[in-house]
Amino acid sequence: MSIISKDISKAISVLEAEGLVAIPTETVYGLAGNIFSEKAINSIFETKQRPFFNPLIVHIPNIYYLDKIVSHIPEKAKLLADAFWPGPITLVLKKKSVIPDLITAGKDTVAVRIPNHPTTLELLKRLDFPLAAPSANPFNRISPTTAKHVEDYFKNDIKMVLDGGACKSGIESTIIGFENEEPIIYRLGSTPIEAIEKVVGKIEIKNKKESSPNAPGMLARHYAPKTKTILSDNILESIKEYLGHRIGILAFQNKVKHEDVKFQIVLSESADMSEAASNLYDALHQLDKKDLDIIIAKRFPNQNIGKSINDRLERATK
Ligand code: TXA
Ligand code: MG
Repeated sequence: MSIISKDISKAISVLEAEGLVAIPTETVYGLAGNIFSEKAINSIFETKQRPFFNPLIVHIPNIYYLDKIVSHIPEKAKLLADAFWPGPITLVLKKKSVIPDLITAGKDTVAVRIPNHPTTLELLKRLDFPLAAPSANPFNRISPTTAKHVEDYFKNDIKMVLDGGACKSGIESTIIGFENEEPIIYRLGSTPIEAIEKVVGKIEIKNKKESSPNAPGMLARHYAPKTKTILSDNILESIKEYLGHRIGILAFQNKVKHEDVKFQIVLSESADMSEAASNLYDALHQLDKKDLDIIIAKRFPNQNIGKSINDRLERATK
């Protein structure tokens, strides 16, 4: 029997009983549990096979909840929250002691956001606790953007996927921390830097691809298909290096014609980068199932959401 359901009341029962529910957001599906339940939080880490040093994002229903869980809100954090919540920005702020150490991997900060999805906003409003929710994929694998992706990963491990359709933005939230009251981008994501800079001015990026960073969404290899994947500025040139192999193509706007290309996906025929972002992970899921030798992905124009797409593709190709 399918674990996919639209029943919000059922999701509430599972979560109140300290179980896990995969929830839709505008970015990707999350694997959610009650932040105050040690049992639920432990099963998030166990189900994802996620190392305990990697902290979780706390999802809250409205901005008033923020004061209950953080001890200080820098001025620019307020501006960002006002401008982008509900939406794909996560703010890393000094935590209050009510937030369990398990959530924050012992850090004195907590990552928090209000997701912009009607189903999950209703769910959060009806619960009397916030939800910790990492992306609903096994550690290091491609994030899920449909209920079916989650079911394929976890049908034997969790009770329910709350169906909210395909995720609109398709790439995780942009994560912003604060050092000396100034915002810093820790992870590129669905809210483009250009939009953020309109609100808070020039912003520094500390999005390094280290092998053991303090925010492991920044791990060099992440979001990865099982099939070998490369990032290319010129797909036809790259095909020449893999002649005779079963090649898959992840194209931006135009299809390529070549006999060795066994499967290809165009992310946006109208060259719309937001549309491309929302199709990106589903395309990687599909390509990964085609028994290919190599996936060649086209590098995007390095601006707006194209920067975040390139960031994910680079991590998928390590
Ligand atoms: O769009 C999203 O952000 C999705 C949806 C479900 O909300 N969630 C998501 O969660 O991408 P996850 O766990 O896959 O990525 C969370 C990232 C990790 O890289 C983690 O290291 C970082 O947030 N993070 C969490 N708490 C942090 C903290 N206190 N300081 C620095 N980084 C933190
Ligand atoms: Mg993730």
